[in-house]
Amino acid sequence: MLEFGSAQWGVDRILGPPVTRRGGRQGKSVAEVAHYLQVQQTSKVDLTCLGDYIARFFHHDLTHSTRENTKFYVKNGNKLAISLKAWTQQIFIRAGQDAYFGPKLDELSPDLPLDLIRFDELSWQVFYHYPLALRKEGTSLANKIRTALKHYFELPKSQRLAKAWFVEALEDECRGVGLDTEEVASQMLFLYWGINTNISKMGYWMIAHALFRPHLVDLIRNETALAFENSDIPDGEYISNVQKCPKLNAFWLECLRLASSSTALRYVTEDTIIGDKILREGHTILMSARQLHLNTSSNAFGDDAAIFEDERFLKNTHLERNLNFRPFGGGKTLCPGRHLAKYMALTFVAQVFRKFDVTLAKDQPFPAYEEDKPTIGILSGKEDLLISLRARDGRQGM
Ligand code: HEM
Repeated sequence: MLEFGSAQWGVDRILGPPVTRRGGRQGKSVAEVAHYLQVQQTSKVDLTCLGDYIARFFHHDLTHSTRENTKFYVKNGNKLAISLKAWTQQIFIRAGQDAYFGPKLDELSPDLPLDLIRFDELSWQVFYHYPLALRKEGTSLANKIRTALKHYFELPKSQRLAKAWFVEALEDECRGVGLDTEEVASQMLFLYWGINTNISKMGYWMIAHALFRPHLVDLIRNETALAFENSDIPDGEYISNVQKCPKLNAFWLECLRLASSSTALRYVTEDTIIGDKILREGHTILMSARQLHLNTSSNAFGDDAAIFEDERFLKNTHLERNLNFRPFGGGKTLCPGRHLAKYMALTFVAQVFRKFDVTLAKDQPFPAYEEDKPTIGILSGKEDLLISLRARDGRQGM
């Protein structure tokens, strides 16, 4: 949190004992309450409500985006094509931002999603304690995003109109332990980044895999058809239900497995012996899911662990709960947003392939995973993919 611009006194209050508490949360620090609130926000009826709101946002964006009002078209020879990377980054970040912060943040700072995209590219520098002198761009972007969030938190709550109640509830908790608006904004910067970035990369990988394996497009269209029975906006509960859409859910898990470089960071609080290793007190351990997901010797994913197999999680339905499968970390800090992440990714791809025929705008190989840059979440594609969208109902594409 310090690295994201919080002051030491702010961090002490977030991690320290609570000052004011509402029912049921006695004795918890604000950091623990934040986790609890995020779990509530993305569970049961709150999950459906927020997920459906985001699915509606996707629907609106996919229906009304044009070359003129978007920023993801790039030159392809003497024509224009859509950058899959820029498109998925922008639509997911704007959707997550709108759901969690409401439309006011966009009005205050329309370029915030673009700033976040660049900040995310540099965020590894924070976690790997890259020398401060060498991360001027990342620091300046963090300051810019924090300032926008500060202006947002200066607004009366009645003007913000966010669908999610989480941000306001956490703001109350922060202010309850004495944080001022500057410190609230620093806390929220970390969340704004966490909520928005990994998931946009999953949108990229799911579309990319489907583009290179046309049977997946048919599968998505067929399996999700009933979710569109009553509306153009899909029934997200239906789509993310493994019983109703088992193949799509297995496809999601396989994309996660191969793209995830999620890294859990843990401090050793006392000397600990594991096997023939001693972990010394005071050191930090980084554990990457990538090794676990690609490991052939553990036998979790078999000899073909390096290969994309869209039915892997369908053939072995216990695999999702295998200890080697860790895209969302584990333990007390297990990602609280994992159900919403799935809801978002699946309702997005279902809508894209229902509304459009998606093709490569020119010959391009399947992108490599960007492994040569430290990543602590979902890997980016090393290369972009230029694509074209043609509306399936005969209208002009985007
Ligand atoms: C594919 C998408 C996502 C991936 C791969 C992912 C992965 C992770 C990982 C690996 C962690 C750290 C777990 C640990 O330390 O053991 C984490 C934490 C977190 N994630 Fe996610 N996440 C995703 C989407 C989301 C979304 C959509 C949200 C919010 C709506 C979210 C909110 C959070 C929060 C608040 C934490 C911090 C939890 C804490 O320390 O209490 N994540 N995520």
